[in-house]
Amino acid sequence: NTPTSYYLSDCPSILHRYRPVSRFAHKGTQGHALIIGGSYGKMGAVVLAAKAALKSGCGLVTAYIPKCGYDIMQTAFPEAMALTEGQEHITKIGFDMQPKAIGIGPGIGQHEETQQALHDFLKLNNTPLVVDADALNILSYNKEWLPLLPENTIMTPHPKELERLMGSWNNDFDRLEKMKAFASAHNLILVAKDAHTMVVHGGTVHINTSGNAALATGGTGDTLTGIITGLLAQGYNAVDAAIFGVHLHGLTADVAVEHTGMQAFTASDVVTYMGKAYL
Ligand code: APR
Ligand code: MG
Repeated sequence: NTPTSYYLSDCPSILHRYRPVSRFAHKGTQGHALIIGGSYGKMGAVVLAAKAALKSGCGLVTAYIPKCGYDIMQTAFPEAMALTEGQEHITKIGFDMQPKAIGIGPGIGQHEETQQALHDFLKLNNTPLVVDADALNILSYNKEWLPLLPENTIMTPHPKELERLMGSWNNDFDRLEKMKAFASAHNLILVAKDAHTMVVHGGTVHINTSGNAALATGGTGDTLTGIITGLLAQGYNAVDAAIFGVHLHGLTADVAVEHTGMQAFTASDVVTYMGKAYL
């Protein structure tokens, strides 16, 4: 067992990670985030992630989606640019822009052609990366691809996805040891989502204190992917983006439930209320 430092992420302790917007900012300095995902029937996931990325403060968002999602994206989220490849799922990932950060996975599905596209993309990509949802599941089935990830890639598994990635655990202590070993072995930042999400990196574990059970509703994980990708695009380093992003996501839900109540809160409310959490 390697020595570990534990930290609680609360408002005072994460404040030094916050980067205020410069008076002289323009959309070119605020960073360009690319969100890759979506497939037939799962376009909402990538719409939510793309919206959350822009709301986190980055300057530009491009959504990389299959053709069946083009009208959906342009209508639901006019602020985003859209690139398409494949009809009902992504069949290839290639672009000639240079985003500052890429988030991949929400709604992407597990089609064989999508798996191949992910592999080809990982072989070429050096841009800071957030991997979530089915992109994580695809990596779980192809663990030999893990070395292709750039250093400090952020993974955001929920408990089932975490289990697929690193195997099952016997108890919470065992889970923690396995997370540390997995993150260190692959030079990753592991964001293990739960009621108290943990950000594990090297010998440190940051335990989040914001958020509430209103987040237990479909699509909230996709908004977290967007937030962290958007922060990375703005120039937050990967550790800051993960820790600050997780806290901001939870805080948004804490603020939002004052308006929506617990039951009626939806993932779209993360997008709506993020500004209030920043305040
Ligand atoms: N308290 C605080 N936070 C919570 C709570 C809780 N009780 N319950 C859930 N959350 C937070 C988690 O920490 C995480 O940030 O809500 C988010 C849920 O994320 P996911 O489990 O990934 O759910 P989501 O992605 O929205 O689900 C849609 O996508 O990843 C796939 O297979 C997944 O079918 C699922 C789909
Ligand atoms: Mg999810």
